Amino acid sequence: MAQRESWATRTGFILAAVGSAVGLGNVWRFPYQVGEFGGAAFLVVYLALIAVIGFPVILVEFTVGRYTDRNPVGALKQIGTSSWQRIGWVFIVAGFVILSYYSVVAGWVLQYTVYGLQGNYAADGAAQFGATTGGMMSVLTHAIFMAAVIAVVGFGIRRGIEFSVKLMVPAIIILLVGLAVYAGTLPSAGEAYAYYLSPDLSTIAENWTSILPAAAAQAFFTLSLGMGVMITYASYLGEDRNLAKDAVIIVGLDTAIAFTVGLVAFPVLFSGDLAVADIVEIGDGPGFIFIALSQAFSNIPLGSVFGAIFFGTVTIAALSSAISIMEVVVSYLIDERGVDRVPATLLIGTAIFLFGVPVAYDGSLSWLTVYDELANNILLILGALLLSIYIGWVKTDIGLEELGKGIRNLGGWGTAWIWALRVPVVVTLVVILGLNAIGA
Ligand code: PHE
Ligand code: NA
Repeated sequence: MAQRESWATRTGFILAAVGSAVGLGNVWRFPYQVGEFGGAAFLVVYLALIAVIGFPVILVEFTVGRYTDRNPVGALKQIGTSSWQRIGWVFIVAGFVILSYYSVVAGWVLQYTVYGLQGNYAADGAAQFGATTGGMMSVLTHAIFMAAVIAVVGFGIRRGIEFSVKLMVPAIIILLVGLAVYAGTLPSAGEAYAYYLSPDLSTIAENWTSILPAAAAQAFFTLSLGMGVMITYASYLGEDRNLAKDAVIIVGLDTAIAFTVGLVAFPVLFSGDLAVADIVEIGDGPGFIFIALSQAFSNIPLGSVFGAIFFGTVTIAALSSAISIMEVVVSYLIDERGVDRVPATLLIGTAIFLFGVPVAYDGSLSWLTVYDELANNILLILGALLLSIYIGWVKTDIGLEELGKGIRNLGGWGTAWIWALRVPVVVTLVVILGLNAIGA
């Protein structure tokens, strides 16, 4: 077999991981989850979970990936011969389900970029969104997006993924910051900041049984955790980097970018004549950013230009995430089945495209919800829980050894990390799975 690939540069890995993390989760899913689950109350729980669960779990994935130099299925096989191996399969299934609908939504984002270029955002955003989702056009944009994913992943780690994220990630950051500056000049920016930045916490206690699972699903989704992306990307790391430092950068950037998206969206919404009541009303569904933002852009001078830049930026962010999901499944075929990269990519890409067709074709969004809930409420949480138990309780030595490699004075931090996995992470994830089971 050919020598296994690796990242060419130190920053390549970080950029790829940031590219994976920053995507539709930040721009499309986050705002409507906030709208659906109690606004700032959701935000507070979400941020707490990022710190308490997200950070320890990303380190588990990094250590497992770098220790084994394998795809997620192969990684678990290498660590032990027990039935824990099957965790890898949860990851592969989750990747399959997530990419199939992620690509459909990314196709809509592409469509909204085109609407902007055509100066074509409708005053009735809901009608335009209804006409965009469902039918052959939606299948076509899904196909175009998957073709782009196949093209990048087909070129491999250095020439495909690393090369493209080096262009995409800086572009995403620069464009978003630029858009935030532009949004700050809009007439209702002050009013919008006041709305966005003043939390009302009274709802957490009353609604925690719905907020907690939803916030956890969002935390895993946004950090690309629980399906082996970070295992796969860390498996291409040759050197002993300080994984904790990289984790802080990646988690910090993902969170900062989600925050920045709000600094763009809310001034646009308010300045495009959407009242708080309208925003809240549209805010609790997958159509939110499409309907509300395009409608607002239609009311702002040069709105279609900035709308095209906004949705174009989101298309790039979605691509840099989608390639990471695809790489999980492709790396499995390459490492474990000896398939060459190009046929593996074409095969998996086509299968995922077909699996997403019902979501694309169905105009009601009910398939979308089924796929999204299966993946995020169950598969990601289950994958992360099993892996945290395995490393936290069973293979502790492997985690500690690997984490310690790039860190000179690990000291008590290693033990603190293991105990964070053993109790807070495991207990919280069990509670969340339980709540989802009751809710289902
Ligand atoms: N983190 C990505 C986003 O926020 C989505 C994703 C989920 C990517 C799971 C990989 C794995 O858009
Ligand atoms: Na994200």
